Amino acid sequence: MRKVSVAASKSYEVHVGENLLAQIGQTVAAACGGERVLIVTDDMVGGLYGKTVENAMIESGYAASVFTFPRGEQSKSMDTYIALLSAMAAAGLTRSDIVAAVGGGVVGDLAGFAAATYMRGIRFAQIPTTLLAMVDSSVGGKTAIDLPSGKNQVGAFYQPDVVVCDISTLATLPEETFTDGCAEIIKHGIILSEELFNLLKRPIKPQLEDIVTMNITIKSDIVMADERDTGIRQILNFGHTIGHGIEAGSNYMMTHGRAVAIGMAISARGAYRMGICGEDCYMEIVDMIRRHGLPIETDIPPDRLIQAAFVDKKRNSAGISLILPEKIGKCAIKSFSMEDLAAFIHLGMQD
Ligand code: NAD
Ligand code: GLY
Repeated sequence: MRKVSVAASKSYEVHVGENLLAQIGQTVAAACGGERVLIVTDDMVGGLYGKTVENAMIESGYAASVFTFPRGEQSKSMDTYIALLSAMAAAGLTRSDIVAAVGGGVVGDLAGFAAATYMRGIRFAQIPTTLLAMVDSSVGGKTAIDLPSGKNQVGAFYQPDVVVCDISTLATLPEETFTDGCAEIIKHGIILSEELFNLLKRPIKPQLEDIVTMNITIKSDIVMADERDTGIRQILNFGHTIGHGIEAGSNYMMTHGRAVAIGMAISARGAYRMGICGEDCYMEIVDMIRRHGLPIETDIPPDRLIQAAFVDKKRNSAGISLILPEKIGKCAIKSFSMEDLAAFIHLGMQD
């Protein structure tokens, strides 16, 4: 088992290893204390791992209950959030009790936001079960729900007290969902680590523990440098402004990982055409995205993506920042007016 320490506004450990769920009660008790725990999960993950987690919590002395909601991005909503807060109150959670998020990024974002806001903040354990949630969303404290007008529009920075990545749970993950997580891993390689990028030229599954740990280390270093996302953390948004537009333009039928993959490919093509990176860098990026079974193009018209960028929460009155690759392992933050962004999206999408 590996551990990565994160020292942000809250200090916590991220555990990475196999078969960690059986001891999850002890791990959570050591990090969080408390008497009651509400396990938050979706119907798929709850069916697979809910009982194991609940039994482990009870064995460690917790009064445990479970809140389950339907899987999928549609559940990252105000309605589910209110239902979850009501379940927390009904379970009698106090400020010294715990919310444990068991699932993918949807569960972690929703449960984290509820933990951040219930009684002005209660303890919170992230137990990610998708590759994406292990390498990205469970670490760093971004929590949120969606509004009809856009993704993640209501949220809070709220760090967990502990993160437990049991990589054995990835055995049940559908191949398509595993592939979604590869997009965030490729992103970390492109923006920050040529060493990681080169590891991804071989299949990920045989090197899972190493790659998950390396990604968490890369992400936590950035979070520790800029927890509130006002500077360097913005580079983690590579591919995301355009990716969020693609998710919205597909009515959330396209997954986050696939949308980010296309967003990275469009950004890389635009960067090459603007002379920010060379053709070899652009080609390496699209080859890597394709190698892991992810898409590089969309049928959604550029104007729909531009419209979505206008409601992106990272926009300010002057415009928006885009993250663009300069070479593998290095990227730049570039400010765009909304007009220039529209031109950039056209440039990145043209044949
Ligand atoms: P998800 O949570 O919807 O999970 C994908 C699917 O996999 C779901 O159907 C789920 O039931 C299923 N699943 C999860 N674990 C499983 C397992 N071990 N075995 C079988 N099935 C399993 O999606 P995701 O890709 O994990 O997360 C996407 C969300 O994360 C988006 O809402 C995105 O905005 C958010 N996100 C947040 C951050 C952040 O920093 N907070 C970063 C990246 C993404
Ligand atoms: N997933 C982007 C971030 O955590 O900042």
